[in-house]
Amino acid sequence: MAQQVHIFDTTLRDGEQVPGCKLNTKEKLELALQLEALGVDIIEAGFPISSPGDFESVEQISKAVKYATVCGLSRAVQKDIETAAQALKYAKRPRIHTGIGTSDYHIRSKFNATREEILQRAVQAVKWARNFTDDVEFYAEDAGRTENAYLATVIEAVIKAGATVVNIPDTTGYCLPHQYGEKIAYLKNHVSNIDRAIISCHCHNDLGLATANAIAGVINGARQIECTINGLGERAGNTSLEEVVMILQQHKDLGFYTQVHTQQLNPMSREVAEVMRMPVQPNKAIVGSNAFSHSSGIHQDGFLKDAQTYEIINPEEVGAEGSKIVLTARSGRSALAYRFQKLGYQYNRNDIDILYQAFLKIADKKKEVEESDLQVLAQAYQSEPVTA
Ligand code: KIV
Ligand code: ZN
Repeated sequence: MAQQVHIFDTTLRDGEQVPGCKLNTKEKLELALQLEALGVDIIEAGFPISSPGDFESVEQISKAVKYATVCGLSRAVQKDIETAAQALKYAKRPRIHTGIGTSDYHIRSKFNATREEILQRAVQAVKWARNFTDDVEFYAEDAGRTENAYLATVIEAVIKAGATVVNIPDTTGYCLPHQYGEKIAYLKNHVSNIDRAIISCHCHNDLGLATANAIAGVINGARQIECTINGLGERAGNTSLEEVVMILQQHKDLGFYTQVHTQQLNPMSREVAEVMRMPVQPNKAIVGSNAFSHSSGIHQDGFLKDAQTYEIINPEEVGAEGSKIVLTARSGRSALAYRFQKLGYQYNRNDIDILYQAFLKIADKKKEVEESDLQVLAQAYQSEPVTA
């Protein structure tokens, strides 16, 4: 039977950390309600100690969200945890997300501490958090570059202290998919109490591997993915929500499902891009404006014969506008005939042969031949049809 992968959305926390993406409370609240409608399981609403504005956002979201778990971030610091708990006071399902850096880079350079001291601080943080809620997620920051044996020691200790979810962030986006997958498998095999917690993937995209790494994590035993709409997040961003959801949906053979309503993926992406003032790259998977566009003659011909030759997802399934046949100098006759047909012109093969030559002249001058160009071509042809 297929197993659920929990979708932990951090658009409002990691995503909002992006320069220029800052949101006010009203904007955050509206997005949180839309994320809940999208079907995400957990909404990371913010980092309450970071500013009074973020505290208020987490508090408002906690009051408004009905079904999803609302999560607040904290460092492994008592005051942070208390503040997160206070901001989450009204949440129906509150989660405190606390943690500390576990790689030697973090232990030495950031904390000037020892592995033993970090272990103690991690355990203490989870115990503080458990005073406020039964749902405590621990993050081992820079787990991607943390030695596996030490990571396993920390994870075992925090689960013993009460962590119910253990987050294994590849904070710097350093891991290759097989390495990240092996890390998760290592924890599954070497942490004696791992069955008492859900393993979570939190992958950054510095090498463009965030999505691949999260999927490798799930294949090896993780059951929660931390991700953002449009892959927003620190630096090169996080795992993109729309990508992981559709990968699990497309590859049913993997044996996983999520609760996300996929038809809302494109509307949600547009909303986030607009509110956060962060346009989506046209070639972005699932939600980019070119994700369902076909422009070369070979592709267009195949697509028009059978959409599945060049599309693995039906655009309707992800709420996209629909497949597009774009006319460029690389397009062929069948695409031209199709676009004329859409405008109400039925041409035979001979007509199209003639019109195609005129079309190419325009296409060589312009990046894209538009509807208005086709109208001009059709009218000229109607008044002076030339025979081949
Ligand atoms: O990238 C990271 O390690 C984080 C943690 C705070 C979870 O965002
Ligand atoms: Zn992060």
